[in-house]
Amino acid sequence: MTIVKNWWKQEIFYQIYPASFKDSNNDGIGDIQGIIQELPKIKALGITTIWLSPVYKSPMVDNGYDISDYEAINPQFGTMADLDELIKKSKKLDIKIIMDLVLNHTSDQHAWFKDAISNPNSPYRNFYIFKEGKNNLPPNNWRSNFGKGSSWTLVPGETNLYYHHVFSKQQPDLNWENKELRFTLYDMINWWLKKGIAGFRIDAITFIKKDQDFASITPDGSDGLGKVKRKSENRPGIDKFLNELNEHTFKPANAVTVGEASGVTYDQLNKFIGKDGYFSMIFDFHYADIDVQSGSEWYHQTNWTVKELNEAITKSQLSIQKYGWGANFLENHDQPRSINKYIKDPAYQNKIGAKALATLFFFLRGCPFIFQGQELGVQNIKRTAIEQFNDISSKDNYYRALDEGYTKTDALKYVNDRSRDNGRIPYPWNNEINDGFNQGHKPWLALGKHDSHTNWNDENNDADSILNFYRKMIKIRTTSNISSDLINGDFEPIPTSQSTVIAYKRGQNAVVYVNLSSAPVKLDLPKGNIILNNYSEINLQRMEPYQSVLIEVKNNG
Ligand code: GLC
Ligand code: CA
Repeated sequence: MTIVKNWWKQEIFYQIYPASFKDSNNDGIGDIQGIIQELPKIKALGITTIWLSPVYKSPMVDNGYDISDYEAINPQFGTMADLDELIKKSKKLDIKIIMDLVLNHTSDQHAWFKDAISNPNSPYRNFYIFKEGKNNLPPNNWRSNFGKGSSWTLVPGETNLYYHHVFSKQQPDLNWENKELRFTLYDMINWWLKKGIAGFRIDAITFIKKDQDFASITPDGSDGLGKVKRKSENRPGIDKFLNELNEHTFKPANAVTVGEASGVTYDQLNKFIGKDGYFSMIFDFHYADIDVQSGSEWYHQTNWTVKELNEAITKSQLSIQKYGWGANFLENHDQPRSINKYIKDPAYQNKIGAKALATLFFFLRGCPFIFQGQELGVQNIKRTAIEQFNDISSKDNYYRALDEGYTKTDALKYVNDRSRDNGRIPYPWNNEINDGFNQGHKPWLALGKHDSHTNWNDENNDADSILNFYRKMIKIRTTSNISSDLINGDFEPIPTSQSTVIAYKRGQNAVVYVNLSSAPVKLDLPKGNIILNNYSEINLQRMEPYQSVLIEVKNNG
């Protein structure tokens, strides 16, 4: 067998959030058998790799990102036999699977942690991070990443011993300084790779190295605490861990890896995704978080402009292109719906707007990642009280905003705009009971409030739907005259006279123009074949509100 390095550049990824995809046994929670049922539809969309958000055993405090057994399946989702069946049936359809890999922390219900806290001589004590408190307070003033409270929690039954957690207190951090822990994780990873999966999306991976001085920092909130990421995100020394991880797992398996690697600066990309980088790709959050000043504090909203978005996308693309390959996305399970985030005029939070965004992101250099429901144009929903939210970070952000002096109405608005529940809305399959998500049992999270056409069934039957637009884009990238430009071609920004237009070239012959504004603009578009257009007409001297086009230009050079 020949080994193709970088085979993954061709791939089109689809992220499934299992609890919200398809509930096959009508208990209110999506499951693996539901995914298996719908594989033909995923295939018909043109997807080549599925990223499966966590299905491991978990008390689901952070919806599966709190793992209590890495080698077992959460019974809510099914069994290991179901997962093996999914891998096998996907393979038959030429669809690969990547799993989510959470290496920064486990659940507090993991056997290692339970033993570590109940037994001072436990062999697992050194798998986690324990420290003595100071003057009846936690060891330092770091604030957890979900936005409220210390990143330390007192060990039950102890008076001055704390454990560390970057995220919730039910997600104790693993101690990567301990070689035995690291190699235990590598064994687990290799066990999964042997099952025939193609690789991993690697959760919160830049948090594994903490500054070993564990020193307090200058507070950045009225709570006297400072963001834990300042001492634990992409910190010096992480290189050794990431290199070792790659050498012992991903690299020998020629696996595809996508790091959720926040905090990596553009000049560090070579180490992360360069020729000998730790990962195949990493997600770049610089423009995904353009609407908030800091990804973890939603009440600091920004008044971003299209010009800024354009600059951010360009900078990201050019920086990544210098060293490696990108992982492009509009949405994921931690983000609000893209229509609501990037389309400022509510009148265009519709089919036109959704297709404009789709065109903008899909043809960037790198692999496209589509999040379930994005291809239908699913939108945020407004909740009217904090009790209606499920997402743990929505609650933390709400109460923190109140602490910081915002009114309840404002706090609720910020959380509605950013809540991770928006991404987690049960998938609308059709217009029947519970949107076809299941047979009528109350879904674990409220359904969306869509118009009657935003569902797979209606969109499948409508040639002009967002779903069919995505199918078209995938075909164009996979099999068209300009496929090789769209996959391998360089990215080059095209400056225009209009500040609301984002335009770029891929390779020799493909150009994309998107007008991200509800005002039409005058602009000379290049002559060529119109490959894709979200309006039925085109005027080469003018772009309509939220119009997007992909043009094949002839190169005379
Ligand atoms: C990542 C996940 C997010 C989770 C967090 C902690 O950011 O995407 O959903 O809450 O890590 O595991
Ligand atoms: Ca179910």
